[in-house]
Amino acid sequence: MTQQRQDSLVPTSLAQAAVTALSIANSIEKAEATRCFAKAWQSGEISEVGIAPIPKEPAREKKPVLVPPQEVPRRKVTQEVEGRVAMLHALTHIELHAINLCWDIIARFASTPMPKGFYDDWVSVADDEARHHLLLCERLDQLGSFYGALPAHAGLWKGAEVTEHNLKARLAVVPMVLEARGIDVTPGIIKKLKAVKDFESADRLQVIYDDEITHVAKGKRWFEYLCAQDNEDPIESWQNIILTLFKGRVKPPFNEEGRNKADFPIDFYGPIADL
Ligand SMILES: [Fe+2]
Ligand SMILES: [Fe+2]
Repeated sequence: MTQQRQDSLVPTSLAQAAVTALSIANSIEKAEATRCFAKAWQSGEISEVGIAPIPKEPAREKKPVLVPPQEVPRRKVTQEVEGRVAMLHALTHIELHAINLCWDIIARFASTPMPKGFYDDWVSVADDEARHHLLLCERLDQLGSFYGALPAHAGLWKGAEVTEHNLKARLAVVPMVLEARGIDVTPGIIKKLKAVKDFESADRLQVIYDDEITHVAKGKRWFEYLCAQDNEDPIESWQNIILTLFKGRVKPPFNEEGRNKADFPIDFYGPIADL
């Protein structure tokens, strides 16, 4: 590739990079572009946040076919490869969704003035999610499958839609409910994978788990930043948002140890848990 061609691929603003990534249908290409844009932001090659028109939904290929959650193939972690592939396929889908959510938060709320650290954090999370998606695609390949081979959960974009007009609500729901849920369930999956001696998959999920704790911590930090600006108590504000938008979606059992590592104490979710 010539230097000139390479230069033409680097977006002039972060919002434009976000919209470019959201508009790429192939998941591997989207993840690779994400990693490339993250480097460009981190090196200062992209320095403006800018504004760019956002697509209504992220581009995707025809596969995987999206189905209601009850129709997603059973994800039983056993010695049989099919169950493990189904589990890893579902997680690969979630990681792709996570890439889209990061770029969406950057582009959708680009007109809300936020400190540079906010963009640094979500670009770094996008880079992590892209790495996670690629790690899992590679593992599916090693197990004789690929992303798109199975049907996948259709409803993941709902969390983005219900919070599309409010950055504070987006932070309350995406990192502090959905990603925190990942912290709750991942250690159990890792344990099951180790029990059937799939250490390769377990190691990859451990990398993801450790990163996800930092994502919840970043989400909570920026949520608290916005609450401080509005003179609101963060616990009260978070509980109000969740009860209004996400009734019944904060479910035990909680991985309190992992959540504490993300500086997300039970004072937030304990009182409104669907016990
Ligand atoms: Fe992830
Ligand atoms: Fe994440």
